[in-house]
Amino acid sequence: MEIDGPLEKPNIKVLGNSLFSQVHLHEKYGGVYPNLAKREHEKNLPPLLEKTIKEAGTSDVDFIAVTAGPGLEPALWVGIGFAIELGKKWNKPVVPIDHMEGHIYSVLYEARDTLALPALALLVSGGHTELVEVKDFGHYEIIGQTLDDAVGEAFDKVARMLGLPYPGGPQISKLAAASRLRIKDLEFKLPRPMLHSKDFNFSYSGLKTAVLYKLKAEGRSDQEFREDMARAFEDAAVEVLIEKTRRALIKLGDTVKTLIVAGGVSANTCLTGELERLVSEFPEISLRLPIKSLSTDNAVMIGIAAFIKASRQPEILKQELEIRASGNLALTS
Ligand code: KG4
Ligand code: ZN
Repeated sequence: MEIDGPLEKPNIKVLGNSLFSQVHLHEKYGGVYPNLAKREHEKNLPPLLEKTIKEAGTSDVDFIAVTAGPGLEPALWVGIGFAIELGKKWNKPVVPIDHMEGHIYSVLYEARDTLALPALALLVSGGHTELVEVKDFGHYEIIGQTLDDAVGEAFDKVARMLGLPYPGGPQISKLAAASRLRIKDLEFKLPRPMLHSKDFNFSYSGLKTAVLYKLKAEGRSDQEFREDMARAFEDAAVEVLIEKTRRALIKLGDTVKTLIVAGGVSANTCLTGELERLVSEFPEISLRLPIKSLSTDNAVMIGIAAFIKASRQPEILKQELEIRASGNLALTS
Protein backbone atom coordinates (compact mmCIF):
# COMPACT_ATOMS: atom_id res chain seq x y z
CA MET A 1 0.00 0.00 0.00
CA GLU A 2 0.94 3.63 -0.46
CA ILE A 3 0.23 6.09 2.38
CA ASP A 4 1.07 9.73 2.86
CA GLY A 5 -0.50 12.90 4.24
CA PRO A 6 -1.49 13.87 7.79
CA LEU A 7 -1.91 11.14 10.41
CA GLU A 8 -5.45 12.35 11.15
CA LYS A 9 -6.50 11.82 7.55
CA PRO A 10 -3.90 9.95 5.54
CA ASN A 11 -4.23 9.23 1.82
CA ILE A 12 -4.30 5.48 1.64
CA LYS A 13 -4.01 3.55 -1.57
CA VAL A 14 -4.09 -0.22 -1.41
CA LEU A 15 -2.09 -1.53 -4.35
CA GLY A 16 -2.53 -5.20 -3.57
CA ASN A 17 -4.41 -6.98 -0.79
CA SER A 18 -4.91 -10.69 -0.25
CA LEU A 19 -6.58 -12.36 2.66
CA PHE A 20 -6.68 -16.08 3.21
CA SER A 21 -9.45 -16.77 5.66
CA GLN A 22 -9.02 -19.95 7.70
CA VAL A 23 -12.56 -19.64 9.02
CA HIS A 24 -13.87 -22.76 7.28
CA LEU A 25 -10.97 -24.89 8.47
CA HIS A 26 -11.61 -23.94 12.10
CA GLU A 27 -15.36 -24.27 11.80
CA LYS A 28 -15.52 -27.77 13.21
CA TYR A 29 -13.54 -26.76 16.33
CA GLY A 30 -15.93 -23.88 17.09
CA GLY A 31 -12.96 -21.51 17.32
CA VAL A 32 -9.37 -21.09 16.19
CA TYR A 33 -7.30 -24.26 16.64
CA PRO A 34 -3.72 -23.00 17.31
CA ASN A 35 -1.61 -25.71 15.64
CA LEU A 36 -3.76 -25.79 12.56
CA ALA A 37 -3.54 -21.97 12.35
CA LYS A 38 0.27 -22.14 12.53
CA ARG A 39 0.54 -24.81 9.84
CA GLU A 40 -1.86 -22.97 7.56
CA HIS A 41 0.06 -19.69 7.96
CA GLU A 42 3.29 -21.46 6.99
CA LYS A 43 1.65 -22.92 3.92
CA ASN A 44 -0.28 -19.84 2.80
CA LEU A 45 2.10 -16.93 3.36
CA PRO A 46 4.47 -17.52 0.38
CA PRO A 47 1.72 -17.83 -2.29
CA LEU A 48 -0.24 -14.94 -0.73
CA LEU A 49 2.79 -12.67 -0.93
CA GLU A 50 3.40 -13.65 -4.55
CA LYS A 51 -0.24 -12.96 -5.47
CA THR A 52 -0.21 -9.59 -3.68
CA ILE A 53 3.02 -8.44 -5.36
CA LYS A 54 1.60 -9.38 -8.74
CA GLU A 55 -1.59 -7.43 -8.02
CA ALA A 56 0.39 -4.41 -6.80
CA GLY A 57 2.75 -4.55 -9.78
CA THR A 58 5.69 -3.75 -7.49
CA SER A 59 7.66 -5.04 -4.53
CA ASP A 60 9.54 -1.79 -4.08
CA VAL A 61 8.65 -0.86 -0.50
CA ASP A 62 10.11 1.42 2.19
CA PHE A 63 9.45 -1.04 4.98
CA ILE A 64 7.56 -4.20 5.94
CA ALA A 65 4.94 -4.21 8.74
CA VAL A 66 4.16 -7.30 10.80
CA THR A 67 1.80 -8.08 13.70
CA ALA A 68 3.77 -8.86 16.87
CA GLY A 69 0.78 -9.45 19.19
CA PRO A 70 -1.58 -9.86 20.92
CA GLY A 71 -2.74 -13.19 19.51
CA LEU A 72 -1.77 -16.83 19.31
CA GLU A 73 2.00 -16.92 19.68
CA PRO A 74 2.72 -19.89 17.38
CA ALA A 75 0.83 -18.15 14.56
CA LEU A 76 2.43 -14.76 15.32
CA TRP A 77 5.92 -16.30 15.14
CA VAL A 78 5.21 -17.59 11.64
CA GLY A 79 4.37 -14.08 10.44
CA ILE A 80 7.35 -12.54 12.22
CA GLY A 81 9.79 -15.12 10.85
CA PHE A 82 8.43 -14.60 7.36
CA ALA A 83 8.68 -10.79 7.62
CA ILE A 84 12.26 -10.94 8.94
CA GLU A 85 13.33 -13.24 6.09
CA LEU A 86 11.70 -10.92 3.58
CA GLY A 87 13.33 -7.89 5.20
CA LYS A 88 16.73 -9.54 4.71
CA LYS A 89 15.99 -10.52 1.13
CA TRP A 90 14.74 -7.06 0.16
CA ASN A 91 17.11 -5.24 2.51
CA LYS A 92 14.22 -3.32 4.11
CA PRO A 93 13.37 -2.58 7.75
CA VAL A 94 10.63 -4.53 9.52
CA VAL A 95 8.19 -2.66 11.80
CA PRO A 96 6.40 -4.65 14.55
CA ILE A 97 2.79 -3.62 15.12
CA ASP A 98 0.30 -4.15 17.92
CA HIS A 99 -2.80 -5.93 16.59
CA MET A 100 -5.13 -3.70 18.68
CA GLU A 101 -3.44 -0.54 17.39
CA GLY A 102 -4.28 -1.90 13.94
CA HIS A 103 -7.95 -2.16 14.89
CA ILE A 104 -7.96 1.42 16.23
CA TYR A 105 -6.55 2.87 12.98
CA SER A 106 -8.72 0.68 10.75
CA VAL A 107 -11.20 3.58 10.94
CA LEU A 108 -8.86 5.79 8.89
CA TYR A 109 -9.43 3.79 5.72
CA GLU A 110 -11.87 5.36 3.26
CA ALA A 111 -12.72 7.97 5.88
CA ARG A 112 -14.40 11.22 4.88
CA ASP A 113 -13.48 13.10 8.05
CA THR A 114 -10.35 13.90 9.96
CA LEU A 115 -9.81 11.79 13.06
CA ALA A 116 -10.08 14.09 16.09
CA LEU A 117 -8.13 12.97 19.16
CA PRO A 118 -8.32 12.31 22.09
CA ALA A 119 -10.71 9.45 21.49
CA LEU A 120 -12.29 6.62 23.42
CA ALA A 121 -11.93 3.27 21.63
CA LEU A 122 -14.18 0.30 22.25
CA LEU A 123 -12.28 -2.68 20.84
CA VAL A 124 -14.45 -5.75 20.45
CA SER A 125 -13.10 -8.94 18.89
CA GLY A 126 -12.73 -12.67 19.39
CA GLY A 127 -9.86 -12.12 21.82
CA HIS A 128 -10.51 -8.67 23.28
CA THR A 129 -13.14 -6.46 24.87
CA GLU A 130 -11.43 -3.24 25.85
CA LEU A 131 -12.16 0.40 26.49
CA VAL A 132 -9.05 2.37 25.60
CA GLU A 133 -8.36 6.06 26.00
CA VAL A 134 -6.50 7.13 22.85
CA LYS A 135 -4.80 10.25 24.21
CA ASP A 136 -2.81 10.85 21.05
CA PHE A 137 -1.27 8.79 18.26
CA GLY A 138 0.78 6.13 20.04
CA HIS A 139 -0.46 7.02 23.55
CA TYR A 140 -3.05 4.72 25.03
CA GLU A 141 -4.50 3.79 28.38
CA ILE A 142 -6.69 0.75 28.84
CA ILE A 143 -9.43 1.86 31.23
CA GLY A 144 -11.49 -1.33 31.16
CA GLN A 145 -11.36 -4.85 29.80
CA THR A 146 -12.95 -8.25 30.08
CA LEU A 147 -12.11 -10.27 33.16
CA ASP A 148 -12.78 -13.56 31.37
CA ASP A 149 -14.20 -14.21 27.86
CA ALA A 150 -14.14 -11.63 25.08
CA VAL A 151 -17.49 -10.59 23.64
CA GLY A 152 -16.71 -12.13 20.21
CA GLU A 153 -15.70 -15.35 21.94
CA ALA A 154 -19.06 -15.36 23.75
CA PHE A 155 -20.84 -14.92 20.40
CA ASP A 156 -18.84 -17.89 19.06
CA LYS A 157 -19.52 -20.12 22.08
CA VAL A 158 -23.24 -19.34 22.18
CA ALA A 159 -23.44 -19.97 18.43
CA ARG A 160 -21.90 -23.38 19.00
CA MET A 161 -24.49 -24.16 21.71
CA LEU A 162 -27.20 -23.27 19.20
CA GLY A 163 -25.67 -25.56 16.59
CA LEU A 164 -24.39 -22.70 14.43
CA PRO A 165 -21.01 -22.68 12.62
CA TYR A 166 -17.95 -20.57 13.48
CA PRO A 167 -17.63 -17.57 13.43
CA GLY A 168 -20.77 -17.18 15.48
CA GLY A 169 -21.26 -13.42 15.42
CA PRO A 170 -22.96 -13.03 12.04
CA GLN A 171 -24.99 -16.24 12.59
CA ILE A 172 -26.35 -15.12 15.97
CA SER A 173 -27.18 -11.75 14.49
CA LYS A 174 -29.21 -13.32 11.69
CA LEU A 175 -31.27 -15.46 14.10
CA ALA A 176 -31.80 -12.52 16.46
CA ALA A 177 -33.09 -10.38 13.60
CA ALA A 178 -35.65 -13.06 12.71
CA SER A 179 -36.92 -13.05 16.31
CA ARG A 180 -37.25 -9.24 16.31
CA LEU A 181 -39.30 -9.42 13.13
CA ARG A 182 -41.56 -12.11 14.51
CA ILE A 183 -42.31 -10.78 18.01
CA LYS A 184 -42.10 -7.38 19.64
CA ASP A 185 -40.85 -8.39 23.09
CA LEU A 186 -39.20 -11.49 24.46
CA GLU A 187 -40.73 -13.31 27.41
CA PHE A 188 -37.37 -13.81 29.09
CA LYS A 189 -34.21 -11.84 29.67
CA LEU A 190 -30.63 -12.97 30.26
CA PRO A 191 -28.38 -11.40 32.93
CA ARG A 192 -26.23 -8.36 32.11
CA PRO A 193 -22.95 -9.23 33.91
CA MET A 194 -21.19 -6.30 35.61
CA LEU A 195 -23.69 -3.79 34.25
CA HIS A 196 -23.73 -1.95 37.56
CA SER A 197 -20.11 -2.37 38.61
CA LYS A 198 -18.40 0.95 39.13
CA ASP A 199 -15.45 0.15 36.86
CA PHE A 200 -15.23 -0.18 33.07
CA ASN A 201 -14.54 -3.91 33.08
CA PHE A 202 -16.61 -6.61 31.41
CA SER A 203 -17.38 -10.26 31.99
CA TYR A 204 -18.94 -12.53 29.39
CA SER A 205 -18.47 -16.04 30.73
CA GLY A 206 -21.51 -15.81 33.06
CA LEU A 207 -23.74 -14.75 30.19
CA LYS A 208 -22.60 -17.72 28.16
CA THR A 209 -23.36 -20.03 31.13
CA ALA A 210 -26.79 -18.42 31.53
CA VAL A 211 -27.53 -19.37 27.91
CA LEU A 212 -26.44 -22.94 28.62
CA TYR A 213 -28.73 -23.22 31.70
CA LYS A 214 -31.68 -21.73 29.86
CA LEU A 215 -31.19 -24.17 26.98
CA LYS A 216 -31.04 -27.10 29.43
CA ALA A 217 -34.03 -25.89 31.44
CA GLU A 218 -36.25 -25.42 28.39
CA GLY A 219 -35.09 -28.53 26.55
CA ARG A 220 -36.13 -26.99 23.23
CA SER A 221 -34.18 -26.74 20.01
CA ASP A 222 -36.82 -25.56 17.55
CA GLN A 223 -36.01 -22.67 15.23
CA GLU A 224 -38.15 -20.06 17.00
CA PHE A 225 -36.63 -20.82 20.38
CA ARG A 226 -33.11 -20.64 18.93
CA GLU A 227 -33.95 -17.28 17.36
CA ASP A 228 -35.23 -15.96 20.68
CA MET A 229 -32.15 -17.25 22.55
CA ALA A 230 -29.85 -15.58 20.01
CA ARG A 231 -31.75 -12.33 20.47
CA ALA A 232 -31.73 -12.49 24.27
CA PHE A 233 -27.99 -13.08 24.17
CA GLU A 234 -27.29 -10.32 21.65
CA ASP A 235 -29.44 -7.83 23.61
CA ALA A 236 -27.58 -8.60 26.84
CA ALA A 237 -24.11 -8.56 25.25
CA VAL A 238 -24.75 -5.26 23.46
CA GLU A 239 -26.42 -3.53 26.41
CA VAL A 240 -23.35 -4.03 28.61
CA LEU A 241 -21.03 -2.70 25.87
CA ILE A 242 -23.20 0.38 25.39
CA GLU A 243 -23.70 1.10 29.08
CA LYS A 244 -19.99 0.84 29.94
CA THR A 245 -19.09 2.99 26.94
CA ARG A 246 -21.67 5.60 27.97
CA ARG A 247 -20.19 5.74 31.47
CA ALA A 248 -16.65 6.03 30.13
CA LEU A 249 -17.71 8.91 27.83
CA ILE A 250 -19.32 10.69 30.79
CA LYS A 251 -16.25 10.17 32.98
CA LEU A 252 -13.79 11.38 30.34
CA GLY A 253 -16.05 14.35 29.59
CA ASP A 254 -14.95 17.12 27.25
CA THR A 255 -11.53 15.58 26.62
CA VAL A 256 -13.02 13.02 24.21
CA LYS A 257 -13.82 14.10 20.66
CA THR A 258 -14.31 10.74 18.97
CA LEU A 259 -15.71 7.33 19.82
CA ILE A 260 -13.88 4.63 17.85
CA VAL A 261 -15.46 1.19 17.73
CA ALA A 262 -13.46 -1.52 15.97
CA GLY A 263 -12.72 -5.25 15.85
CA GLY A 264 -14.81 -8.11 14.46
CA VAL A 265 -17.87 -7.44 16.65
CA SER A 266 -18.07 -3.83 15.38
CA ALA A 267 -19.76 -5.30 12.29
CA ASN A 268 -22.74 -6.23 14.47
CA THR A 269 -25.75 -4.20 13.34
CA CYS A 270 -27.54 -4.42 16.70
CA LEU A 271 -24.43 -2.86 18.29
CA THR A 272 -23.99 -0.19 15.59
CA GLY A 273 -27.67 0.82 15.87
CA GLU A 274 -27.31 1.28 19.64
CA LEU A 275 -24.03 3.16 19.15
CA GLU A 276 -25.75 5.68 16.87
CA ARG A 277 -28.31 6.23 19.59
CA LEU A 278 -25.58 6.57 22.21
CA VAL A 279 -23.56 9.21 20.36
CA SER A 280 -26.71 11.25 19.75
CA GLU A 281 -26.59 11.89 23.52
CA PHE A 282 -23.12 13.42 23.07
CA PRO A 283 -23.37 16.03 20.29
CA GLU A 284 -19.64 16.91 20.50
CA ILE A 285 -18.53 13.35 19.86
CA SER A 286 -18.37 11.68 16.47
CA LEU A 287 -18.60 7.93 16.00
CA ARG A 288 -16.00 6.20 13.83
CA LEU A 289 -16.30 2.62 12.65
CA PRO A 290 -14.20 0.75 10.08
CA ILE A 291 -15.76 -0.21 6.76
CA LYS A 292 -17.20 -3.71 7.14
CA SER A 293 -14.35 -5.56 5.38
CA LEU A 294 -11.84 -4.01 7.80
CA SER A 295 -13.74 -4.88 10.98
CA THR A 296 -12.28 -8.39 11.14
CA ASP A 297 -8.51 -8.97 11.08
CA ASN A 298 -6.76 -7.74 7.92
CA ALA A 299 -3.39 -6.53 6.68
CA VAL A 300 -4.54 -3.04 5.66
CA MET A 301 -5.07 -1.91 9.26
CA ILE A 302 -1.60 -3.19 10.21
CA GLY A 303 -0.14 -1.17 7.33
CA ILE A 304 -1.94 1.99 8.47
CA ALA A 305 -0.73 1.53 12.07
CA ALA A 306 2.82 1.03 10.74
CA PHE A 307 2.63 4.27 8.74
CA ILE A 308 1.61 6.12 11.92
CA LYS A 309 4.38 4.48 13.96
CA ALA A 310 7.08 5.14 11.36
CA SER A 311 5.95 8.77 10.95
CA ARG A 312 6.14 9.39 14.69
CA GLN A 313 9.37 7.45 15.23
CA PRO A 314 11.34 7.54 11.96
CA GLU A 315 14.40 6.20 13.80
CA ILE A 316 12.83 2.70 13.92
CA LEU A 317 13.44 2.43 10.19
CA LYS A 318 17.17 2.90 10.71
CA GLN A 319 17.82 0.09 13.16
CA GLU A 320 17.38 -3.63 13.09
CA LEU A 321 14.76 -4.26 15.78
CA GLU A 322 14.56 -7.46 17.76
CA ILE A 323 10.99 -8.55 17.11
CA ARG A 324 9.33 -11.05 19.40
CA ALA A 325 5.81 -12.47 19.34
CA SER A 326 3.89 -11.39 22.41
CA GLY A 327 0.60 -13.20 22.92
CA ASN A 328 -0.55 -10.81 25.66
CA LEU A 329 0.83 -7.55 24.30
CA ALA A 330 -1.18 -4.66 25.78
CA LEU A 331 -1.50 -1.05 24.62
CA THR A 332 0.45 1.47 26.71
CA SER A 333 1.35 5.13 26.54
O1 KG4 B 1 -11.10 -8.87 15.17
P1 KG4 B 1 -11.43 -10.26 14.75
O2 KG4 B 1 -11.44 -10.57 13.29
O3 KG4 B 1 -10.40 -11.28 15.35
C1 KG4 B 1 -9.82 -11.15 16.58
O4 KG4 B 1 -8.93 -10.30 16.71
O5 KG4 B 1 -10.29 -11.89 17.49
O6 KG4 B 1 -12.82 -10.64 15.42
C2 KG4 B 1 -13.44 -11.91 15.22
C3 KG4 B 1 -14.69 -11.99 16.08
C4 KG4 B 1 -15.32 -13.37 16.12
O7 KG4 B 1 -15.52 -13.74 17.47
C5 KG4 B 1 -16.66 -13.18 15.41
O8 KG4 B 1 -17.70 -14.01 15.87
C6 KG4 B 1 -16.94 -11.73 15.69
O9 KG4 B 1 -15.69 -11.09 15.58
N1 KG4 B 1 -17.90 -11.14 14.71
C7 KG4 B 1 -19.13 -10.70 15.04
C8 KG4 B 1 -19.74 -10.27 13.84
N2 KG4 B 1 -18.85 -10.44 12.81
C9 KG4 B 1 -17.72 -10.97 13.37
N3 KG4 B 1 -19.75 -10.65 16.24
C10 KG4 B 1 -21.00 -10.16 16.26
N4 KG4 B 1 -21.67 -9.76 15.15
C11 KG4 B 1 -21.09 -9.78 13.93
N5 KG4 B 1 -21.76 -9.36 12.84
ZN1 ZN C 1 -8.46 -8.62 15.70
